Amino acid sequence: MARTENDTWDLTTSVGATATGVAVGRALASRGPDPLINDPYAEPLVRAVGVDFFTRLASGELDPAVVDDNAEFGMERMRDMMAVRTRFFDDFFLAAAEAGIRQAVILASGLDARGYRLPWPAGSIVYEIDQPQVIEFKTATLGELGATPKAELRTVAVDLRHDWPRALRYAGFDPAAPSAWSAEGLLPFLPPEAQDALLDNITGLSAPGSRLATENMSDGSRAVSMMADQIKQTTDRWRAHGFDVEMTDLWYAGERNDVIEYLNAHGWSANAAPVAELLAAQSVSLAADGERAAVFTSLSYVSATRG
Ligand SMILES: C[S@@+](CC[C@H](N)C(=O)[O-])C[C@H]1O[C@@H](n2cnc3c(N)ncnc32)[C@H](O)[C@@H]1O
Repeated sequence: MARTENDTWDLTTSVGATATGVAVGRALASRGPDPLINDPYAEPLVRAVGVDFFTRLASGELDPAVVDDNAEFGMERMRDMMAVRTRFFDDFFLAAAEAGIRQAVILASGLDARGYRLPWPAGSIVYEIDQPQVIEFKTATLGELGATPKAELRTVAVDLRHDWPRALRYAGFDPAAPSAWSAEGLLPFLPPEAQDALLDNITGLSAPGSRLATENMSDGSRAVSMMADQIKQTTDRWRAHGFDVEMTDLWYAGERNDVIEYLNAHGWSANAAPVAELLAAQSVSLAADGERAAVFTSLSYVSATRG
């Protein structure tokens, strides 16, 4: 399904379905005797969305190993990736809170339940930004599940290609106070120039001492098109198990700026944590096959501080 300039979605379609897919990864990573993360909301949220294939995986009815059929890129890899990614971004927000930052902005919040899950210090305000149908669904579903936010949670339903800084300020965001930002699982869904505009907007709203966590693909255009190929093969394989969502052509290939270089050139001090190293620390090794492994080996999670 090709992207268009003002396309919209819910959690069962297009870019929205990827938010459900990564929540399946969090549900899987939260299972078992010694889980790497604990996201108690991932499975019930996936179940509520109602994509049958995702529900059966998240609930344990369908074995991810059976679905993957020994492929390198699949649900088991998604589980491992989401485990290290969730820990990275959780640790980022906890460290920012520890340093005294009381405003957090979760861009492209999807089915992320950090506002309900992390021990935010008193006085913290957490803003969640995503498309309206995504925000409405998650907020209503978590309410029905009896979940209560662990901070003052303010939702901002707006497209991140539009004037979201205005909407964020309208919701009460204070650009004079330091803030902690995450853009997790978002950048490849933005055209290259929208990625730069997003980072510029974050910079413009970030007082000195603010922090940002996001991701970067070195050799971005190649990695994004390889990722798109892998996801197409993967979803084709899932069709045999009843998966019926169209999730191809959602990513913008083409040259884009390296996030670390861009941030360092725009008033931030940015560091990268290579995902392969984070996975290795959890005893997960990537396939030796250069082409397929490159999707992962080029990926790093980034943390930056505004000078
Ligand atoms: C892969 S999901 C990641 C969700 C969440 N950050 C997580 O890690 O669970 C991508 C998210 O980006 C959001 N997104 C992508 N492009 C967007 C846009 N232009 N405006 C608002 N949200 C967008 C989608 O709605 C979706 O929730």
